[in-house]
Amino acid sequence: MNEPRYRISEIRQADPLAADPLLAVLPAMNRDADVPALTVALRTLLPLPAAADEWSVVESLAAMRDLGMFLGSLKRHGTEPLDAVPEALPVLETLGRRTDMVPRDTVHHYTTWNPIGLRRRTYTGEAMEADLQDAVRMVFPSLAASLDTCAALARLEPHDPGFAVSLDRTAQHVQSMVDSIDFTVANVSPVFFARTLRPYFEEIDVAGRDYLGPAAAQVPLWLIDLTLWQCDHSSPEYDEFLAESVPYSLPSWRDFHAAHTGGASAVSKLAAAVDWENADRLSPQLAASAVSLARVLRILKTFRARHIGIARKAYSDDLRLYEVGSGGAPIELLRSVLDLTRDNETLVRRATGRSRTPVASHA
Ligand code: HEM
Repeated sequence: MNEPRYRISEIRQADPLAADPLLAVLPAMNRDADVPALTVALRTLLPLPAAADEWSVVESLAAMRDLGMFLGSLKRHGTEPLDAVPEALPVLETLGRRTDMVPRDTVHHYTTWNPIGLRRRTYTGEAMEADLQDAVRMVFPSLAASLDTCAALARLEPHDPGFAVSLDRTAQHVQSMVDSIDFTVANVSPVFFARTLRPYFEEIDVAGRDYLGPAAAQVPLWLIDLTLWQCDHSSPEYDEFLAESVPYSLPSWRDFHAAHTGGASAVSKLAAAVDWENADRLSPQLAASAVSLARVLRILKTFRARHIGIARKAYSDDLRLYEVGSGGAPIELLRSVLDLTRDNETLVRRATGRSRTPVASHA
């Protein structure tokens, strides 16, 4: 694997800014809301732009991760980071360019590329923050692997034996999202998220453009939605959210999005194949494809139903400090994406005739 962004242990290991000591005291600075100390720390860490120009992708990702912790911290205490430290702008732009990513840290920097153990970077030093980071870390390998299974799915038709196989493999990947949200619900309280952590994920201004913080809303579950149903069964709200989310992902993942947008989804292909056969009794292959597609959609739905539970609590009237999520969208978005996932699952179940209602069959 030549993709430097997948060299996770190297990125975690890298400390090109020699930032370990300052990051160790970051939670104390945040506890004291010590904006002068945060400002000096960010300024101290900045490399000469010429030095950053020499760095590998691995080093550049690690540097962005570490600067990002100070960007989010300053913003949490009401200071626009690049107003306080304008010299950081060319560095962020260089790092964004060298890594082919946005000019600030993302959820990948904050979780997957974050060291574990004593060198772990956190805003607060609280165990619940580490648990939320770990919840997101556990889905990265599955999401990366889903690129292959979903690309295979896009090339296949429901009559191909590989169609159900690709779906079953994808289902295993989506299961990690369910495990992740169960882990989150068990370990992260809505009040901790709402009152303590959420403020660190505010957007910051970089050269006149707002960039969202490194929150879980940027976890690219859309990689999986895309070829299953989203490319031709979406809604304007979800499309809008995706248009905002996709730039925060990895270059090859953005390419995947571009390549499959406008394609035919697995849901559409299955519906067309079932209509074409126009029979109540499906061929064994088509029936297997339908069962596998319904199964993976059900797992997606399970993730979304459990996720909306904790999101609702964290954004309830008595807890929330912000109207919208750190991904820039309101809770209603989650409802509408859950509804879309459920509608697509229902469509597939109908196609197989397994949930035809008496009304429909007598019509
Ligand atoms: C305390 C925990 C969490 C809360 C309160 C929360 C809240 C939210 C909210 C309010 C949104 C709407 C978009 C936005 O923020 O602008 C969102 C989106 C999203 N979140 Fe979370 N979230 C949490 C944990 C997680 C975890 C652990 C994951 C995955 C590992 C995750 C994955 C997602 C995804 C994929 C979306 C995009 C919408 C979708 O695909 O359904 N979230 N979250």
